[in-house]
Amino acid sequence: MTKTVFDVLKIREDFPILKRVVNGMPLVYLDNAATTQKPQHVIDAICHYYTHMNSNVHRGAHTLSNEATEAFEAARRAVQDYIHAESSDQVLWVRGTTEGLNLIASSYGGMVLEAGDKVLVSAMEHHSNIVPWQMVAQQKGANVEPIPVDAEGTIDLDAFKSLLDEQVKIVSVGHVSNALGTINPIEEIIALAHKVGAKVVVDGAQSVGHWNIDVQKLNCDFYVFSAHKMFGPTGIGAVYGKRELLESMPPYQGGGEMIEQVSFAGTTYNQLPYKFEAGTPNIADAIGFAAAIEYLNGLDRKAAAEHEAELLNYAVSLGEKLDGFNLIGRAKNKTGVLSFLLEGTHPSDVGMILDQKGIAVRTGHHCAQPIMDQYKIPGTIRASFSFYNTKQEIDALFAGLETAKMFLL
Ligand code: ALA
Repeated sequence: MTKTVFDVLKIREDFPILKRVVNGMPLVYLDNAATTQKPQHVIDAICHYYTHMNSNVHRGAHTLSNEATEAFEAARRAVQDYIHAESSDQVLWVRGTTEGLNLIASSYGGMVLEAGDKVLVSAMEHHSNIVPWQMVAQQKGANVEPIPVDAEGTIDLDAFKSLLDEQVKIVSVGHVSNALGTINPIEEIIALAHKVGAKVVVDGAQSVGHWNIDVQKLNCDFYVFSAHKMFGPTGIGAVYGKRELLESMPPYQGGGEMIEQVSFAGTTYNQLPYKFEAGTPNIADAIGFAAAIEYLNGLDRKAAAEHEAELLNYAVSLGEKLDGFNLIGRAKNKTGVLSFLLEGTHPSDVGMILDQKGIAVRTGHHCAQPIMDQYKIPGTIRASFSFYNTKQEIDALFAGLETAKMFLL
């Protein structure tokens, strides 16, 4: 079998920031789970919009507004295609995954939850997929319960099955854990949850940058994600929802665009997707989002995924050889996330020493305190890889860790 050649050096040319020097050293960017870097194609698309097209959408009687509206709605169709949604009006613009989860918790959760009902989230969720549910549960007298995660960082499906009953109205899980990199078996989770009539929300923040999603095949009820974790701009993301659910839900915010008719006798709401899009939307970044999708569609995604897997395997093999290296999150099915501790050191001290060498990682609890508590650790050092990273960069990381040990132990 021939293996696809992935020309990482050529790919790196597309990302101008990767040429940066940080603290006198070439940047080694290993914080891709926090945000990915942007190719020139995305930067140009945003610049082009502001240079040639800037105007408000859906309102103007003039050429610029029509052009902006056309580009803005074409961006929605690009997102629809990327996740294989049935229709573009099932794609709602939001600021990002966090706002998307808040929208669903507040609007859908607020509509269906009653006293005694349950929302299940996994024990390794990001705070964004815990707190919005707690907020609505508190208002309704419902409960948010964790689906147990084992020592490897894998969801315990048997425990999940035993938690499922008629009181469970919503199951909300990350497709991929930001703190550990675990890829969750969401197909099974969705099928099991549907058996008791629960709806399933998938936090796709950490998956969309690695592979294309098929929401129809997954049969999820909602799927939420951010552009900035898939090489697009910050400040824009999307919520996908099944039509009948979106149609039945009340608006999330009131204002312009989301109305059909306003009067003091009563207000009626716009059709999908505008019912959920109050105020002037983030037009430029929607266009940047579409450019990111266009860029990704131009890549050999299979080869990119193989390259990322190779990087993870290589990093794990170097970790095994480093005294005091303790990998946190050892699930069999993982994205390129290396979350670890270095015995006798504090993650933030290691992070500072790595930064002096131009190496960007994230340290801390990664907004996933419950799973850190379960492992009885304050946090980890997290190196997260993308397809533009190289084995040389991982060598630089491990050389940096040797230096950190020298200084700190
Ligand atoms: N949720 C992002 C992370 O894991 C910011 O770093």
